[in-house]
Amino acid sequence: MTASPTIEDQLAAVDATLDATLMGTTKWNESRIPVLRGTFARLLKQVTLPTSETSSKPILEIGSDGQLASAKVLCELSGLGVTASNLVVKGLQSRVGEYPITVRQNDIGALDFPDSSFSMVYGRAVLEHISDMDDFLLECDRVLETGGVLYLDGGPLFYSPRGHHMAVKGPSGTHYGFAGMPDLLPNWCQLESNEDELFEHLTTVKDIDEADARAVAHYVFNSPEQNRMSATMVKDAFARSPFAHLEHEPTFMKKAVPSAELVEKYGEFDLTCNGLAFFGNSGPEAAAAAAAVPSNSNAAAEQSHSNAGAAGPSDTATPTTDPTPRPLWRRAASKAKRTLTR
Ligand SMILES: C[S@@+](CC[C@H](N)C(=O)[O-])C[C@H]1O[C@@H](n2cnc3c(N)ncnc32)[C@H](O)[C@@H]1O
Repeated sequence: MTASPTIEDQLAAVDATLDATLMGTTKWNESRIPVLRGTFARLLKQVTLPTSETSSKPILEIGSDGQLASAKVLCELSGLGVTASNLVVKGLQSRVGEYPITVRQNDIGALDFPDSSFSMVYGRAVLEHISDMDDFLLECDRVLETGGVLYLDGGPLFYSPRGHHMAVKGPSGTHYGFAGMPDLLPNWCQLESNEDELFEHLTTVKDIDEADARAVAHYVFNSPEQNRMSATMVKDAFARSPFAHLEHEPTFMKKAVPSAELVEKYGEFDLTCNGLAFFGNSGPEAAAAAAAVPSNSNAAAEQSHSNAGAAGPSDTATPTTDPTPRPLWRRAASKAKRTLTR
């Protein structure tokens, strides 16, 4: 009998897949390797993934990344197929390679899949883009088989320092992004100013081209791409959802300190909680089981404002080396015969 792989085994597979998928593409993609690894380290700690031994249904990824990196890792870990979906799917099909990945154009707001068709719904860096969270969670429950696994994360959330989520191309052709231009907009400008004030700031203090400044200011306050929900609003939506065994991990942006006035108005938790990750199971059986369990295990983490979700390269385990260098997905086919449980 083959022993179940440990989390270290699984993280070694994550590392190998991310390296094979992202190394040698672009510097930006390579810089995402530790970030994605952190996501899977967090996921594997909290959740038992479905496998081809526990389910015959594929995994649904919403908002798939452009290299299908998460989808390929999910194939490797589960031995199941993945339906990789996004509003924009240009170029994705050409990246599938030998993996059992089906690319589907789909809007998060309208999951166009039959009932009980997936063993897991996975969405990374998507929470802030979901406009009707209650409806979306009901839809996730509908498309999952009973006991199916839910993993969703996202940020920056709107009430956090960079919750403006600047991500827009100005008429000049310049791309304005919150990650690459962290000092362009003041922290919490989306809560403390309005469109005209932001335009004024960009043109007078930052010397930005007027048309671009107008585009950025307009995006912050009007873009339909952001749901403008606080961490509390998102948490409340999950609490109302039919998911069982719900756990969440907040991440905090510790460097930015909100004014006393902001804290008074919005509360420290929402102002500093930069991101949230949720884990749960669907279906009536799971719901009944969860009803018997008190669900306040996250309270202490939030009280302490610990950076609970920020799993990074420093907390990685030493990867084990596979002595037989075969294509990753072929290796996964035999690996799928093992049960990937913790
Ligand atoms: C921040 S990116 C995250 C991408 C990827 N999950 C990752 O981990 O890198 C958000 C993704 O959600 C997609 N997205 C945004 N709104 C969407 C919608 N309404 N329906 C489907 N996908 C959407 C975007 O196209 C984008 O690829």
